[in-house]
Amino acid sequence: MDKPKAPLLWGAPDPSVFVKKCATKMLAALDGPIADVACGSGRNAFYLAGLGATVVALDRNLDQLRSLYGASRSRLKRRIRLQEIDFVTDPWPFGPLTLGGACLVHFLHQPLFRQLAMSIKPGGYLLIETMGSQGGNYVELPRERDLRRILGRSFALEIYEERHAGPAEVDAVAVRLLGRRR
Ligand SMILES: C[S@@+](CC[C@H](N)C(=O)[O-])C[C@H]1O[C@@H](n2cnc3c(N)ncnc32)[C@H](O)[C@@H]1O
Repeated sequence: MDKPKAPLLWGAPDPSVFVKKCATKMLAALDGPIADVACGSGRNAFYLAGLGATVVALDRNLDQLRSLYGASRSRLKRRIRLQEIDFVTDPWPFGPLTLGGACLVHFLHQPLFRQLAMSIKPGGYLLIETMGSQGGNYVELPRERDLRRILGRSFALEIYEERHAGPAEVDAVAVRLLGRRR
């Protein structure tokens, strides 16, 4: 695995701290591309590609990523494939057992869980980091233990952290998890 030496791409936003924490594990288990689901600027895709992963970066709006991509070195370009897709209205683009892993950072669409479980090969990692617990995010955040219950059947959850969000009477939580496909 390549070690990141300097910033991988000048001008690229910093990757998620949680992605950085989990990247070594994800890459050690890798047997296929990582899907960066709702990749936004591509900050996590660029980071993972810089470590040697092949990444499919998917979002319904790739404008921000494309401007960074245009400036990136060929080594990174070779490792990142872009795909414009709306995860709510378009069909899931991956077949069974075609992904080495996936990450969803600051984007949660629970209908995708079944597809992710279908496409990630056994031993591959799913990383999820919801929006943080601040402000009005609780309206869209999952309920306590929901993600553990739903994903725990298909994934061995090696990291599972919940942080309460919103007013005390609400059981919404911000979640960070790393699960390994059973
Ligand atoms: C808060 S950003 C997070 C981006 C990236 N994961 C990150 O960590 O920087 C949320 C992203 O989800 C994308 N998004 C929202 N709804 C989507 C949908 N239905 N299908 C595809 N992408 C969507 C937005 O375009 C945006 O880039």
